[in-house]
Amino acid sequence: MKDKNFYTLPELPYAYNALEPFISETQLQLHHDKHHAAYVNAANAVLERLDKARQAGADMDMKAAIKDLSFQAGGHILHRLFWQNLAPASKAVKEPGGALDEALKKEFGSFERFKKEFSSVATSTEGSGWAALVRCGLTGRLLIMQIEKHNVNIYPHLRILMVLDVWEHAYYLDYKNERAKFVEAFWNIVNWDEVNKRLEALIK
Ligand SMILES: [Fe+2]
Repeated sequence: MKDKNFYTLPELPYAYNALEPFISETQLQLHHDKHHAAYVNAANAVLERLDKARQAGADMDMKAAIKDLSFQAGGHILHRLFWQNLAPASKAVKEPGGALDEALKKEFGSFERFKKEFSSVATSTEGSGWAALVRCGLTGRLLIMQIEKHNVNIYPHLRILMVLDVWEHAYYLDYKNERAKFVEAFWNIVNWDEVNKRLEALIK
């Protein structure tokens, strides 16, 4: 299908070893080159199957195709956001600024309280999943979302400001089964500038 777009695996915005010692080079390379790439390829495969069936006028198991697509595309979209909301360890600042700083303090009382709640959401996600910071367009309030797999429990329509991947594939080489240690390490490499930009784009 020449006239249709497909997903592509983005390059990381930093070197594979840039997140050390919080995420190792081997862990990051495996995560990006194997796991993220697999979601891109699988999402495109579903799109291709849909395109072919439509062209041939053939029936498809639509329930299975759409369920698979939401999982694979969700995996791709969340990983894209994740790489961008991380910063090289040497450049990362420990606290947010701008509108984000204000919004976090207004909603959670303090930055520390927000970190505590977000960490708790991340460590308690059942099985494989994500923790995400989002903003509700109806109330303007910041909310935390727990995404199981790549697509379960989401608040529909809310735009994601920041995500943390807590699938075992994100940390197993570095932290084994100790997800809480990985979540603690995450706070050292958050790209607050990027998260603030995402918020400012929404409240403009
Ligand atoms: Fe992942």
